[in-house]
Amino acid sequence: MSSTIAGVEPRQDFDTILVVDFGAQYAQVIARRVRECNVYSEIVPATITAEEIAARRPAGVILSGGPKSVYSPGAPRVDPGVFDAGVPVLGICYGQQLMAATLGGEVARTGGSEFGKTAFTGVVDSVLLAGQPAEQTVWMSHNDAVVAAPDGFRVVGSTAGAPVAAFEDPERGLFGVQYHPEVTHTPRGMDVLRAFVAATGARPAWTSHSVIETAVEAIRAQVGDAAVLCGLSGGVDSAVAAALVHEAVGEQLTCVFVDHGLLRHDEAAQVSEAFGAHSSARLVTVKAADRFLEKLAGVTDPEAKRKIIGTEFIRVFEEAAREHAGDAAFLVQGTLYPDVIESGHGTAATIKSHHNVGGLPEDMDFALVEPLRWLFKDEVRRVGAELGLPPEIVWRQPFPGPGLAVRIIGEVTAERLGLLRAADRVVLDELRRAGLEREIWQSFAVLPAIRSVGVQGDERSYGHPIIVRAVTSEDAMTADFARLDWNVLERIAGRVINEVPGINRVAYDITSKPPGTIEWE
Ligand code: XMP
Repeated sequence: MSSTIAGVEPRQDFDTILVVDFGAQYAQVIARRVRECNVYSEIVPATITAEEIAARRPAGVILSGGPKSVYSPGAPRVDPGVFDAGVPVLGICYGQQLMAATLGGEVARTGGSEFGKTAFTGVVDSVLLAGQPAEQTVWMSHNDAVVAAPDGFRVVGSTAGAPVAAFEDPERGLFGVQYHPEVTHTPRGMDVLRAFVAATGARPAWTSHSVIETAVEAIRAQVGDAAVLCGLSGGVDSAVAAALVHEAVGEQLTCVFVDHGLLRHDEAAQVSEAFGAHSSARLVTVKAADRFLEKLAGVTDPEAKRKIIGTEFIRVFEEAAREHAGDAAFLVQGTLYPDVIESGHGTAATIKSHHNVGGLPEDMDFALVEPLRWLFKDEVRRVGAELGLPPEIVWRQPFPGPGLAVRIIGEVTAERLGLLRAADRVVLDELRRAGLEREIWQSFAVLPAIRSVGVQGDERSYGHPIIVRAVTSEDAMTADFARLDWNVLERIAGRVINEVPGINRVAYDITSKPPGTIEWE
């Protein structure tokens, strides 16, 4: 299978701030915050050399935090040439310590480790902290700290455990903070990032409008006048990818929506209606529920279910492709930037075999069109809105490719699907009524393979429980269970038990990720 990458080519079109990733979970957050300043930001590995950085001609470089001590064996280093390239650099946490240690300052274990909210005193006439109050709260996470700034640097902030909690040398364009300006627990953190972005002189050109323009051009250049195929899942990513490709090549695009019978209540109709009403792209819906249920009969192992669904999906998709878009040379994939980062760094363990819709069979001769591969989810949503997709699609919660099958523990049968679908409908309905749909990343019901005793109308019942799952998240890599109001939970429980015969108990899942995952299988 050949694979060419379409999408925005930001290095040529947008001023860029590179984020060097020293293994922090914060690198993605830093890049997103920079993009909130309308400046394109990309994550690069710590092994990057000063020459490679220079070749990218970035407007600025940010050195991220990291879990190591700069003195521990095997701790990642930065090429010292980065500091002499005439490109502004901001070091954050480990990044600041590395900058200090590399340029002749001193880093030590002060015995004053700080984790969490910390009182910080800053110098208000500095470049980094201009316009901020002298006393503020910042979010810290460190054992080591810079104890002496390198020559030429001015110390512009301190905390009890970090005497050099902020420093700068504006003439050389070098800045550092020990705390994390990228997290929301540092209320004035965005001001620090804005000050650095301004110091780089980067043009704030990264907007939904320009992203669309660039993507459309790139898709046209890649696809020419060939036919293009796109699998719609009902989720926001494939819908926005399809809308972008449609904007670029119109009639050349055919969308395929496979109804595998594992969808939520009314989902197939909603997706075709909402997508159909706002896009004139050709949409083929294939009804294949019986096929999937037959293949899933008697299967209880989660990975086996995923594999069966993935394989069957591809077979149905291939058939539809042959029938409706026989000569398509390109396949649209809704790959997002976090997927690219993960595969690029090669560090992510396979926790579950994720099957994406349109799933990349080895023997399919398609080139890939990946118009979202530089975007984070929130940017995809903004692009979708700018392209005129309706809120029902733009704000749709993510839904896994294998659908309700990974929310039914044990065998997937038509009857069990019916129970789960009816309960799930109530969960979504009540959260929507409570105005929580957007705030919550994903919410759904899970059907476990147990039964419990209850009492209903003075009679003993022996029915199925359902588990309600609702999480908040920024990117699904980590998630927190949603602190739902008891009254909302009570309404859900009451309605599910009254409206779904066979269910006599409702539980709420209060596990975050990690250690749990969002889905139950
Ligand atoms: P977990 O359960 O791993 O899920 O915390 C993270 C995100 O991925 C979605 N998910 C899937 N998406 N195929 C998909 O296309 C899958 O097999 C799959 N499993 C989980 C999940 O809904 C959440 O958004």
